[in-house]
Amino acid sequence: MTTPILRTTRSATETARLGAAIGAACRGGEVLLLSGPLGAGKTHLTKGIAEGLQLDPAQVTSPTFTLLAVHHGRLPLYHVDLYRVEHPAELFQLELFDEVDGPGVTVIEWPEHGRDMLPPSALVVRITPGPGEERRLTLHLDGPHPPAHLLAALGV
Ligand SMILES: Nc1ncnc2c1ncn2[C@@H]1O[C@H](COP(=O)(O)OP(=O)(O)OP(=O)(O)O)[C@@H](O)[C@H]1O
Ligand SMILES: [Mg+2]
Repeated sequence: MTTPILRTTRSATETARLGAAIGAACRGGEVLLLSGPLGAGKTHLTKGIAEGLQLDPAQVTSPTFTLLAVHHGRLPLYHVDLYRVEHPAELFQLELFDEVDGPGVTVIEWPEHGRDMLPPSALVVRITPGPGEERRLTLHLDGPHPPAHLLAALGV
């Protein structure tokens, strides 16, 4: 794990802008794990990543029962939301990660629900909400082959 990078945003638009910078820096094969409570801003960050992949951010939503949404931009965006997964073994049965093993960008909300079923190398983003519209984002690289080039998008 690398030293965490800290960023504060003060609106959903600012969070999306940060996501867009990350998305623009993606080359394919990156995994991003987005943690934080309900309403933290994980999907808004993903909308920004979509913009950085030349996708319409309005396509990115949080449908209740959709585990995986695939969007085709400059690179494929695999948007995974594990909120409803109760046991990591469910992911094995769903063969979810067989689908995302391509040249795309994989963004996973609620990675805690997938635990050791998730890809080992990632940019990990934790979002802490409040007060008001303020969001604190802590970002770090994890695993043996993390997407270190994404740090440049954060001005590091
Ligand atoms: N600085 C901010 N960054 C992101 N979202 C913000 C910010 N300030 C306010 N918001 C609001 O917080 C909410 C974030 O919702 P979002 O769906 O992105 O959260 P989430 O983390 O994906 O939640 P869930 O766990 O339910 O999927 C939105 O209503 C958004 O307008
Ligand atoms: Mg969400």
